[in-house]
Amino acid sequence: MSPVRTYRGRLLHVTSTSPLAWDYLPDAVLRVTDGVVEALGDAASLAAEGLDISSCEVIDGLMVPGFIDTHVHSPQIDVIGSYGEQLLDWLQKYTFPAEERFADEGYAAAAAEDFLDGLMAAGTTTAMVFATSHLGATDALFEAAHRRNLRLVAGKVLMDQNATPGLQDSAEGGIADSETLIRKWHGRGRLGYAITPRFAGSSSDRQLKLAGELHQRYPDTWIQTHLSENRDEISWIAQVHPGFRDYLDVYEQHGLLNDRTFFGHGIHLSASELARLAAAGGRIAFCPTSNLFLGSGLLDLAERKAAGVTVSLATDVGAGTSLSMLRTMGDAYKVCQLQQYSLGAMEALAMSTLGNAQAMQLEHCIGNLLPGRDADFAVLSPGDNPITRRRVEQARNIEEEMFIYMTLGDEQCVSSTYVAGEKF
Ligand code: GUN
Ligand code: ZN
Repeated sequence: MSPVRTYRGRLLHVTSTSPLAWDYLPDAVLRVTDGVVEALGDAASLAAEGLDISSCEVIDGLMVPGFIDTHVHSPQIDVIGSYGEQLLDWLQKYTFPAEERFADEGYAAAAAEDFLDGLMAAGTTTAMVFATSHLGATDALFEAAHRRNLRLVAGKVLMDQNATPGLQDSAEGGIADSETLIRKWHGRGRLGYAITPRFAGSSSDRQLKLAGELHQRYPDTWIQTHLSENRDEISWIAQVHPGFRDYLDVYEQHGLLNDRTFFGHGIHLSASELARLAAAGGRIAFCPTSNLFLGSGLLDLAERKAAGVTVSLATDVGAGTSLSMLRTMGDAYKVCQLQQYSLGAMEALAMSTLGNAQAMQLEHCIGNLLPGRDADFAVLSPGDNPITRRRVEQARNIEEEMFIYMTLGDEQCVSSTYVAGEKF
């Protein structure tokens, strides 16, 4: 890590989500000491205060806080864009066979590097990640993130039933492996652990109960799983776990619903489930590219917000079709448009940065570039695309510019990514 770096250029970040507020600095100076923002302000004002701005690195593009992806599967870089199936068949036909290959630790280590390269190229500097059910592959992912000083929350997938033999763990064995990884990685550097029952379908009641107890022993870990993504899935869960009032109840009864829990999708929820999620603080990770690709359904964002449920934004690669949070924001807009809600550019940016940081309870260190925060940022520019360049040049204000990036952009519009002040 370098002691001091000073960057100068255009900068946009969200400073509050409720009410929504942002700051756009057309000539910002960002001073970073030991990876943390020490000062941020308008160049002229900081110079007037005596800060030496003569040796800044000039940034050509728009600096924004590093994106945060709150639900993504690292091994599924090998199944993005697999044709023709909906959730349950897609898992059997493409996903489980791909994840089985991660029993080979060399394969897993190489894939972890490609996955992290992909995230960082997309301007994502924090992610909540499902690894596979293999201890070694999960360890390799943490190892790779640690070497890059990247902020990652990840977990070994728990699945002790309805899995292929190469992926299935046991109730006790899966929990023991999770605890080994918590002790090794949780809180080390910029890493954290998420207890990761894949979904109720692939964990027994016993494993879910043990997972809830594990979280009680390590209450500052996160929990991540899936909920009510697809209608056939919901019917199947009711058969696999009879005697519960609904899908959410399976997690609730096992101590897996609280304000550290991220539920991927949560598209098809009853009023009762929404109210219980809101009361307990459970988060829904909205994954629009995935929901469109698998034909899972359209998440009603406005309804969830009205119910008081915290909604984060996420890619869900490999059902999601891109690691780019810009692309994800663009598809979130379209999903909302289909339901007569026009998601604004700043609201979408908030969801990908400060809002996701708040959902993870990490807003004291990530989400924007105020002093004291980690200096994780991405630089947006039109890249080589002449159409994007024309549209960005013609933008009349910063909201329009941001909206063009989220509508036309993807990793091609991320010209560089900085992690704790260091260029990737
Ligand atoms: N439900 C259970 N596992 C998965 C998964 O890997 N991806 C998605 N989208 N949904 C799931
Ligand atoms: Zn998922």
